[in-house]
Parts: sequence; structure tokens; C-alpha cells
Amino acid sequence: MSDLTLKSVKSLPKNFIWGAATAAYQVEGATQEDGKGINMWDEYLSKNPLYNPNPASDFYHRYSEDISLASKYGLNAIRLSISWVRIFPNFDNKVNRQGVQYYHNLFKCCLENNVTPYVTLHHFDSPQKMIETGDWLNRENIDKFVEYAKFCFREFSEVSHWFTINELMSLASGQYITGAFPPNHKNNLSEAIQAEHNMILAHSKVVLAFHRICKKGRIGCILALKPGFPNDKNSEADKEATKNYEVYNNVFLLDGILLGKYRTNTLKRMQNILSINHAKIKIETDDLEIMQKAAPLNGMFGMNYYRSEFIKSQEGQIKGIGSFANRNDISKTAWGWNIYPKGLYVMLKRISKNYPRLPPILITENGIGLDEKQSKNDGIIDDDERITFLDQHLYQLLKARSEGVNVIGYFIWSLEDQFSWVNGYGKRYGLFFVDFESQKRFIKKSALWCQKLSATMTEV
Ligand code: NOJ
Repeated sequence: MSDLTLKSVKSLPKNFIWGAATAAYQVEGATQEDGKGINMWDEYLSKNPLYNPNPASDFYHRYSEDISLASKYGLNAIRLSISWVRIFPNFDNKVNRQGVQYYHNLFKCCLENNVTPYVTLHHFDSPQKMIETGDWLNRENIDKFVEYAKFCFREFSEVSHWFTINELMSLASGQYITGAFPPNHKNNLSEAIQAEHNMILAHSKVVLAFHRICKKGRIGCILALKPGFPNDKNSEADKEATKNYEVYNNVFLLDGILLGKYRTNTLKRMQNILSINHAKIKIETDDLEIMQKAAPLNGMFGMNYYRSEFIKSQEGQIKGIGSFANRNDISKTAWGWNIYPKGLYVMLKRISKNYPRLPPILITENGIGLDEKQSKNDGIIDDDERITFLDQHLYQLLKARSEGVNVIGYFIWSLEDQFSWVNGYGKRYGLFFVDFESQKRFIKKSALWCQKLSATMTEV
């Protein structure tokens, strides 16, 4: 194995939040244990067995080993999510104490290891009964989410950092555009955009509830920001398609969460995209009042960044937002995602310029999925490709920070190997390799890289 020398990034800022991320359904397994209810994936995967959600990384039983690994390899924070149906199995107000106890134990373990938990309330895993009643499209479900969140704030007082909903756009798009996520509707732009608006409203209501209940701590939302660049810088058509793509993919959500309103130009472009696709959105006046009250109370902002897109004007699935160019000059992951670290810098600069009241930013996910094999002698797995990817992105983050962007932390996706929603167990993102048969954990070289960089934080 090649030596572990630090690459472009030689040190981390003092007090930097240096973490790794997970999501309940992707790591926990134990889908039928201790009174857990059924969520949308349990039901969908039972009918479409693309992969088995059990035992996943068996985090439900092995979290203490994983949290100790996180701590040993220099991480001071972890992103976890709560599975709603472990707490409220029937999607009513009857609490499952065993589920509650599991999360108390998990959070205690994090704190004892000095790994601060950053907890997401909804990470792609709506209760099955919520999906059956329209998921986020049904406004009654928004209020159920607020009740679930209020319960969590009161119960888990040991947690001080909360995220409401993970990646609104990816969820809505998976559910209503590509159809890869339950309820598997395809090409329904009205449903996708309405779901996004309703999630912004749900986020806002939860933020207000948080500030009524909690005396300390921070709350925010997590968006997957994927900047678009005109494929041909000299093409007016590509530039125009990119402006629309930006509104569709990033700005509509950023406005809603960070400003508590959709700016006139944002709404104009979005309405235009909707109308050429024969789609509609309904925004109530009351919604905007709630969003306005909540926006200044975001205590942090979570940004997931994986890739950028180069936009050509040629129509794609949704009219008006162009389509993605396949650029030979941009390297790609094994799953065809553009590797473009500079996009992280550009996006950080852009949001801090366009949203002056932006709270501190955390990169809540960044990482690369690789097709990895266990090392033959059970030793450390050489994942130099991941180290290069992380190093280059972290470099761009620190560059933006040195230019005044208030980005205070970075979570690697992911702590350990787990399944990907659409790609199953083949796409590995972890700092720790999981042998899904034996559930043994093996160290990847990227974990050593984390450890080495972590030590630089305390250096003078
Ligand atoms: C974003 C999602 O939050 C996470 O659940 C997913 O596995 C990663 N992206 C990788 O695709």
C-alpha cells in the first residue's frame, strides 16, 4: 500500500466539525425488531426485492463498535437519523418505548465517545401509512411530522443539533419524477414541486416548534445542491437553460428555506417551467407567513454536495431546464457522476453572496461510491481514490472559508459501508468496510487519513 501522506489539505481549522454521516434505514437493519413499524421502503422492498434491507450494516446492534471507530479515527461528530416508525410504529400518537430507548442509548454512546450527534428527523423514510395517505402532498401529514418532531425535541434533550428533512429535491424527484422511490410516480412535475413546497412548510413549522420547546441548540435543513454550468459558455440557449435548471434544482428550495419566500424572479422562472410542462403548484398565503417567521431562526444550514452538471439546451425529461451534457474532460465515478470539486467552492461562494443572512454552513454529505473488495489479507483497504476525492473537495471548502464563507464543518458520506437506495450493496461509500456476511468491520486507508488530519486541529 502506498504511504499515507496528506495531499492538498495539510491541516484543519481549530474547532472544525469533522464528521461522517449515516441514515437510519441505510445502516440499522433490524427492520422488524423491538416494535418498529413499517416504513415506505419496508413495504416497497417486500414487493420489489431489489436488495434486502436486513441486516444492512447491523448498526442497530453494533452502533457502539461503529461510534468507537469514529472516535478512534479522529471524528468529533456524526450524522444520524431517527426512524420515525421506531418511535411511532402506527403513525398515530402511541409511542414505542423500545424505539425511544434505542435512540437514547445511541446518543449516550456518541456523547460518551465525544462524537457529537447531528440528528435528522426525516431521511427518505416516511412511514408506510404516510405514503398511503399522500406523503408530503397531504397537509395533514405535515402536522403529524410536527408532532413527531415535538416529541423528539422534548424526549431527546441530550441532542442539541437537529436537521429537519434530508435532501428535499432528491426525495421529491425520486418519488415523482424518476419513480425510483416509493410511491414510484413518474414524470409528475406538479407532485414533485408541490411536495417540495410542502416540505419547506413542514421544515418551517418544525423550526418554530423547536424554538418554542428547546432553550439551546441549533436546527436547520439539508439540501443537496448540484450547481449547473452552461455546457457551452458562449451559447445563449445553454445559459438560459442553466438559469432555469438552477431555479428548478437549487434556488427555489434555497429561497424557501433561507428567505422564507420565493423571490419574484425565482417564482417567475419556476412558473414558466411548470407551465411549459403543464404542471401547477399551490402556495397558500398562510404558508408564506409561516416560512417568513421560520427563516431567520435556522441555526445552521446543511449542504450535501456530490457533483455538478453541465447544462445543454437540448430538452431532457423536464422541458425548459435543458439536459446534462456528457463531458469527456470531466472525470466520473463508476456510477457516472461528474467529479467536480470546484463546484463545491462555487456553490459555497454563491449561497453566501446571495443569502446574506445565511447561518453557519455544514457540508452534511460529500463522498464517493466505489466498487471495493476486501483486502486479501484482511488488512487495511487501500482507497486512495476516495482520499483524493475527499482531499480535493475539502481543499475547495477551505478555500471558500479562507475567503470568508462561514462553513464550519464537513461530514463524509459515509461512516461505514451501507446500502444505497437504488444501487443496493455494491456501491460502497464508507470509511470502514463492512463485510455484509460476517458484519466484521475493516479499516480503509481513508479512515487513517481522517485520523491524521484530525490531529492537525490541535496543532498550533
Ligand atoms: C444522499 C442521501 O442523503 C444518502 O441517503 C445517499 O445514500 C447518498 N446521497 C449517496 O447517494
